[in-house]
Amino acid sequence: GKNDTSITDRLHEVCQLLKDTITYYDWVGFYFKNGDKEELKLRTYVGEETSHEIIPFGAGICGQVAVSNKNFVVPDVQAQDNYIACSISVKSEIVIPLFKDGENIGQIDIDSNSRDPFTEEDERFLEFVNQEVATIL
Ligand code: SME
Repeated sequence: GKNDTSITDRLHEVCQLLKDTITYYDWVGFYFKNGDKEELKLRTYVGEETSHEIIPFGAGICGQVAVSNKNFVVPDVQAQDNYIACSISVKSEIVIPLFKDGENIGQIDIDSNSRDPFTEEDERFLEFVNQEVATIL
């Protein structure tokens, strides 16, 4: 739609704010379901460049959350067998699904260069962020 650009701009501002505010958030991005396809598409992000613009459902941490509808906290990415590496500096990851009208339409994905930094506080906070984001979509 005609508001897609401004929504992406606002999502980018959310990513920037989160990365700037929380020291252990090193890469912050939003993936969304890509139309009718069984895949995620990267909408916007802040952090190191990634080549993973498209992620099939089921693949990696993000693809698993697209299917499970559940938060996924990974304290040590090296211990995961279904993991898509973006950067060798990443040690941990958190992915929180984003629901609009009860439907899992995307997710916020955060990578950290710290080992095991994410707590339940991060989960509750990012669930809140996603709820707020859903209202502008
Ligand atoms: N590590 C993710 C891929 C996306 S990058 O973190 C930006 C995964 O395993 O799904």
